[in-house]
Amino acid sequence: MRLPRGFSDEVRQQADIVKIIGDYVSLKKRGTNYMALCPFHQEKSPSFAVHPTKGIFKCFGCSEGGDVIHFVMRMENCDFPEAIRLIAQKSGIPIPAAPEPGQAATADPEQVRAASLYALNESACAFFEHALQSNEGSAARAYLAERGIRPESAVRLRLGYAPDTWDALSGHLRKRGATSDLIVTGGLAVAREESSGIYDRFRDRIMFPILDAGGRAVAFGGRSFRASQTGREGPKYLNSPETPIYTKGRHLYGLPYAREAVKREQFAVLVEGYLDFLLPFQEGVSNIVASLGTALTDPQASLLKRFARRVVVNFDSDPAGRSATLRSVEVLMRAGLQVQVLALPDGEDPDSFVRGQGGAEYARRAAEAQNYIDYVVDRAVQGRDLSHPTTRVEAFRTALPFLAIIPNAIERTAFGDHVAARLKLDPQLVHQEIRREAQGRKSASGPEGETLSRPPSISMTESEFLLLETLLNEPENATILAGALSAGELDGLPCTPFLRRVTAALVAGVAPDYATLADHIGANAQERDVLQRVLVPKKPVPEKAWRDWFTDCLIGLKRTSMERQMALLQDAMDEALSKGDDQAYREHWMRRTGLKRVLARNGLLETRTISN
Ligand code: CTP
Ligand code: MN
Repeated sequence: MRLPRGFSDEVRQQADIVKIIGDYVSLKKRGTNYMALCPFHQEKSPSFAVHPTKGIFKCFGCSEGGDVIHFVMRMENCDFPEAIRLIAQKSGIPIPAAPEPGQAATADPEQVRAASLYALNESACAFFEHALQSNEGSAARAYLAERGIRPESAVRLRLGYAPDTWDALSGHLRKRGATSDLIVTGGLAVAREESSGIYDRFRDRIMFPILDAGGRAVAFGGRSFRASQTGREGPKYLNSPETPIYTKGRHLYGLPYAREAVKREQFAVLVEGYLDFLLPFQEGVSNIVASLGTALTDPQASLLKRFARRVVVNFDSDPAGRSATLRSVEVLMRAGLQVQVLALPDGEDPDSFVRGQGGAEYARRAAEAQNYIDYVVDRAVQGRDLSHPTTRVEAFRTALPFLAIIPNAIERTAFGDHVAARLKLDPQLVHQEIRREAQGRKSASGPEGETLSRPPSISMTESEFLLLETLLNEPENATILAGALSAGELDGLPCTPFLRRVTAALVAGVAPDYATLADHIGANAQERDVLQRVLVPKKPVPEKAWRDWFTDCLIGLKRTSMERQMALLQDAMDEALSKGDDQAYREHWMRRTGLKRVLARNGLLETRTISN
């Protein structure tokens, strides 16, 4: 059910952010702020601050920040409407009732269809599960046993069997009220080409349901398993097509089972296939997910980022798996995750390894996985004769892109040293190359790619930062600013465009609260970060200080603006002089002297900037 427009604002305004966040972390009052150990990264002393009246939080360690809705979304790993509901519930704000039956017709048709598709998939999943446990599933059960999967694991992970008929599932679903259209849309059956009617897509296969993060079945993978049948009917795995509720590359197999363990352990093991997930999971490695197929996609990486800080990539150790590993490393790095690689002995995959050596040994290796740079260099070095300088440089070139994507400059340098030593190359040159490559990347990827660099990445001077702070923390200051500077002076404010956008919005009367302001100026991620930092001051500030500091800022602004004008007049004077235009020279000189007097009278004159 949809929530009415504006309800989120109501919840944001009414909810007590200290109470809501206090349910998750233990907050202690420090000055105006409440402080706690940050729940989004590991730390020993608190840098997580909540501002009680401005309704926002900010961690000065990991820079996570936002309003109360954002906090709950991150903590509960839920979507926006879910967060609103939860906050409303906890705050005793009545959630508007579902629309009257008469109004139901106006419900969003896409949502209605999605709801019936979720229900359809759930019915299908239950049907397959039941079939696996019945007589017709005996061969499938035997195959699973052969692969080392215990019956209780099959039940727990909702494995199933698609019977060897053309219409068992469709018939079952239709009996439960589904139309043929819906069954085809859901990818569970295929429309016949020659005649009317539909037939089941999955026949005589072991069924793996693909669940979304919340545990709803959204698609299936079906494995053929009879020895005589391999090659007879289609591929080893047959997968659901894309449907309105399933887009390929947006889910991770096993996520709803693994999410709690991933959160607890702070890292996830990432494997390729269903079986690679199943065996380790069954043997106690519960922080594991599978990408299903080859390289990881960006949406999969961001999904993982909601739960993990670090990922151990463990793909097959064949050539395809190795190249998928390298591509996935890049995707994971781009998402801002720490990445390690677990390379198993040649020819092994997680499934075979666990069956041979057990879950504990697998977990031990995953915990000791090498940093991805070492893996990359290992790969680069493999099969190359390192006694030749040219091959060492070649190896370095292969590793270079992976060094350049390390977001943190200090880490980048450390890894550069490490690689230089391994390849016996001049560290200075290595660093130079890395720097060049990193810069090339940054400018090529534009502002989006800058998520790689750590905030605050907007270049603002200390005084601009202070101006922003004083403006946002004392609403009256915006009015004073509007009165003190002319419209022209405001437009020409000598500061970053971001600050100009903020001042323009404030002078125009936009409320200086975080959500309103950020939305109004269309702030990007970095700008939001700056706003959050400014709104939750790190150190307690005496209330009236904002006023005094603002006066200083204003004077500074005024001075900069006047100095600007004076510099322009000086240029004009020079030009007049070179043309021999005495008249113009005098005029400019007079105006410039006038400005200088104003500055001097107000104690604004800084000797270092004024000549003659
Ligand atoms: N895959 C697929 N279609 C195929 C082959 C593979 O969708 N024709 C996907 C599946 O999600 C599979 C993953 O790629 O799990 C990895 O493929 P592979 O290593 O071949 O399969 P395994 O999961 O290892 O399965 P098994 O061990 O049973 O062969
Ligand atoms: Mn396999």
